[in-house]
Amino acid sequence: MSIEQQPWGETDAGTSVSIFTLRTPSGLEARITNFGGIVTHLLTPDREGTPGDVVLGHDTLKPYLGRAQSPYFGALIGRHANRIARGRFELDGQTYQLPVNNGPNSLHGGPGGFDQVVWQAEPIDGDEPSVRLTYVSPDGEEGYPGTLTAVVTYTLTTANELRLHYRATTSAPTIVNLTNHSYFNLTGDASRDVLDHELTIAAEAITPIDETLIPTGDFQKVDGTPFDFRTPRKIGERVNDDDEQLRFAGGYDHNFVLAERPRALAHVARLFDSASGRVMDVATTQPGVQFYSGNFLDGSVHGKDGRVYEHRWALCLETQHFPDTPNQPRFPSTVLRPGEVFESTTVYAFSVSSGR
Ligand code: GLA
Repeated sequence: MSIEQQPWGETDAGTSVSIFTLRTPSGLEARITNFGGIVTHLLTPDREGTPGDVVLGHDTLKPYLGRAQSPYFGALIGRHANRIARGRFELDGQTYQLPVNNGPNSLHGGPGGFDQVVWQAEPIDGDEPSVRLTYVSPDGEEGYPGTLTAVVTYTLTTANELRLHYRATTSAPTIVNLTNHSYFNLTGDASRDVLDHELTIAAEAITPIDETLIPTGDFQKVDGTPFDFRTPRKIGERVNDDDEQLRFAGGYDHNFVLAERPRALAHVARLFDSASGRVMDVATTQPGVQFYSGNFLDGSVHGKDGRVYEHRWALCLETQHFPDTPNQPRFPSTVLRPGEVFESTTVYAFSVSSGR
């Protein structure tokens, strides 16, 4: 048996929640709950073979409820990940107003987004254990049109990967942008910041933002800027540079342009922690990745194993469509119509490097 299912308490509305533990012979272990589709634990060996947990999160359900102690740790994000300016967009001549929950903007699907709902879960055992999560979002939920059926499958592969497959269909024209919001710290015990982690991102441009973190609509070349991660760079090397884009976000919190449109699965990023030797390679079919350097972590969240998560103690690599796409004609579209199928795949692959 490489999947175990356990009860994990209930929501404030009294809905039962489960947690699934998935394991592979290669030593990868994930704990995933059907509340918000949250990856609560992800254990992978360091260069000595000692397993360590590489994601931030909680040991119990309660801190996740209402995001009481969770800035989206490990969660599935929908219906529309990232920001939508003033929560407003137009589709087929009709204007929609979403609840605004981040300054003047809508963020990550709104107050009752996909990270706050209970998904129907189906464990599928085998050499590559997986959990298939389904959520049917009713027409009008959180202000979005159409009944949206989302199916997200988490799989641990024999190649030591966590693979996410997303699929969505709709009953009426709508917009959709799905991602996972895991916070990574490859040291394995989340007891220090990630400024020494080396990051590579295969992106020649970012979508620059204004002071509310909404894209200006331009593309900004990374050449000669703190956003050039085309060769491995330590996150801490330039995060505090005197740069307007870094100032607006208090660090890195930007969409990196990977492709002009969705494409076949491609390797897009690598994260390396020389202390543990852990390497995480990211591949995706998505056109963008939001690199967020944990700027809002400030020591107010008490996480797993009694840890208090301080400033920049983790980073996110949220594969996605670009922020505010519904209001940005130059960005690849997030419109989904009846009869169409939205699909995407993201793979986080874990290995070790003997190098320093
Ligand atoms: C995303 C956003 C950040 C922040 C985090 C959650 O990554 O881009 O600005 O809101 O989610 O704290």
